[in-house]
Amino acid sequence: MSSRVRIIGIGCHPRQITEEALSAIAGCDYVIAADKGPDDPLLALRRAVCADLAVPLVAVPDPPRDRDDPADYDGAVLDWHDARAAAYSTVIDERPGTVGFLVWGDPAFYDSTIRVVTRLGVPYDVLPGVSALSLLAARHRIVLHEVGRPVLVTTGRRLADEVAAGHDNLVVMLDGRLQAATLGGDWDIWWGANLGSPHEELVAGRLADVTDEVVAARRRAKDADGWVMDTYLLRRRASR
Ligand SMILES: C[S@@+](CC[C@H](N)C(=O)[O-])C[C@H]1O[C@@H](n2cnc3c(N)ncnc32)[C@H](O)[C@@H]1O
Repeated sequence: MSSRVRIIGIGCHPRQITEEALSAIAGCDYVIAADKGPDDPLLALRRAVCADLAVPLVAVPDPPRDRDDPADYDGAVLDWHDARAAAYSTVIDERPGTVGFLVWGDPAFYDSTIRVVTRLGVPYDVLPGVSALSLLAARHRIVLHEVGRPVLVTTGRRLADEVAAGHDNLVVMLDGRLQAATLGGDWDIWWGANLGSPHEELVAGRLADVTDEVVAARRRAKDADGWVMDTYLLRRRASR
């Protein structure tokens, strides 16, 4: 029996999973999920989705990622992708069939699943999910860019360099340290944590005025859900 893989975006909370995604998961023989250690809250959410649909979930211990040499960040990520692919191949060789990967948000944004699955050498398709980007914009009732203008989607790690390069309208993901607070200049921020969960938090305003509010809201989200992820839009204030 041959295998195929379905990479399924599940949104940022089981409340946001699409009908298309639900029916794709229900049609899988099993789902593979990375297990990042005891009490992994996102694994627990995936387990709950699979249990509701009576689809088995195979948890695969996530290979450690070498974080010792930040100078070779890209090399460390590639090695990690190879290690993940090897671990998933072992499972798929043992259990051929239709295999689902449940991707948080949308697989197109800051997620390695597509890159890892391409290494497996099996046919695959991708189903979109509701990204944190879409939720951020919707919850704040904003368009992420001004009329006919661009928005740069980046990470906390790259933020200072992107601003130095002249970007002044940016969505920032993967930033556990609110790197925006270290920037010079005058900025507006539209921030959201745990978007989609019942305990989501939102803050908007002039960055210098709301930094403390963001820090407090981030803590509340973590206490309420046991995990916290935040995303924000940062836009330079026009000089008056
Ligand atoms: C590995 S990336 C995954 C992004 C995901 N594929 C998406 O489409 O949103 C994780 C980052 O996404 C953002 N994120 C994910 N879920 C979020 C949520 N519920 N609320 C706010 N930001 C979230 C955070 O910036 C987090 O650091």
